[in-house]
Amino acid sequence: MTSPYARISGTGSYLPPLRLTNEDMVQRLAARGVETSDQWIVERTGIRARHFVAEGVFASDMAEHACRQAMAAAGAEPGEIDLIIVATSTPDMVFPSTAAILQRKLGIAGCPVFDVQAVCSGFIYALTVAEAMVRVGSVRKALVVGTEVFSRLLNFDDRTTCVLFGDGAGAVVVEASETPGILATDIHADGKYTDILCVPGHVSGGQILGDPLLKMDGQAVFKLAVGVLEDTARATLEKAGRTAADIDWMIPHQANIRIMQSTARKLKLPMDKVVVTVDQHGNTSAASIPLALDHGVRTGQVKRGDTLLLEGVGGGFTWGSVLVDF
Ligand code: UT7
Repeated sequence: MTSPYARISGTGSYLPPLRLTNEDMVQRLAARGVETSDQWIVERTGIRARHFVAEGVFASDMAEHACRQAMAAAGAEPGEIDLIIVATSTPDMVFPSTAAILQRKLGIAGCPVFDVQAVCSGFIYALTVAEAMVRVGSVRKALVVGTEVFSRLLNFDDRTTCVLFGDGAGAVVVEASETPGILATDIHADGKYTDILCVPGHVSGGQILGDPLLKMDGQAVFKLAVGVLEDTARATLEKAGRTAADIDWMIPHQANIRIMQSTARKLKLPMDKVVVTVDQHGNTSAASIPLALDHGVRTGQVKRGDTLLLEGVGGGFTWGSVLVDF
């Protein structure tokens, strides 16, 4: 039986217990002779703290916690899940997919599972694919997860990047519905910008060749981000026949408060309609949007019936947005 719509029926998230404030980062970097300050980080990014995983904890472990919460919120049993999509750039292994490892941890078998690699836009991509699969009727209940251990990709001698990122996971259950939920989706990429945000290393013959740590041209990313985020927001609104005035909450990728402020300004949205977690989570790449969504839900900001604009931008270069009646 096909249903005309897909809706988000539950949300969940997970942050590892180790929390590092900017002051902790100042001290860690000072020990390596690298200078930074709480003032610089807060003024340029809005970040005040981030969480890092302990050794031996992987993307699938955090994803499992987030998924169990999301299923509990949706009233869904693991046995009812018939699709798992994991958005991550920090998989547990080269292969199999983190989604397959997560599937085993959740005690599920048989349903299709795969990873989506679109860096910080990964959750938007994964949600777009899940929505389409639910709408064509091949899937009734899907788990869509963003989970990242970016702390393992950071070069702690590069102050321009290592203070920006953190670890975490966020998940949603997407299910077939007779009433509208996900209203419109919009995803894009432009591969000519691969070099401005990348981890260029690769595995070959039992060794890592090239640099396996994150590199970013922050200003180039910033400039592209503010342009494409406005474009994609307007595209999803138009596809859904809505306007920015209909948005109750914008839940953007949490990379930099100045990027969020810029998008909000362009859409004429006050900042009190923007869910902000970058101050406490830093940039958790594909996890940041579902983490912010779950934070909004659990703090009582985001309520059933609200119209949500989810939007992200990241390496690739990739970007996109999803408009939701929650
Ligand atoms: O998740 C994917 C999407 N990623 C993003 O959206 C990130 C987009 N980019 C950004 O958020 C910003 O470009 C950054 C936060 C990365 C950098 O902010 P900025 O205002 O563009 O700073 P900048 O790169 O122009 O650097 C300004 C100064 C430089 O010093 P000089 O050359 O002016 O003397 C940097 O060396 O700030 C210095 N600096 C720092 N100082 C203290 C850079 N990093 C730090 C630091 N602490 N951690």
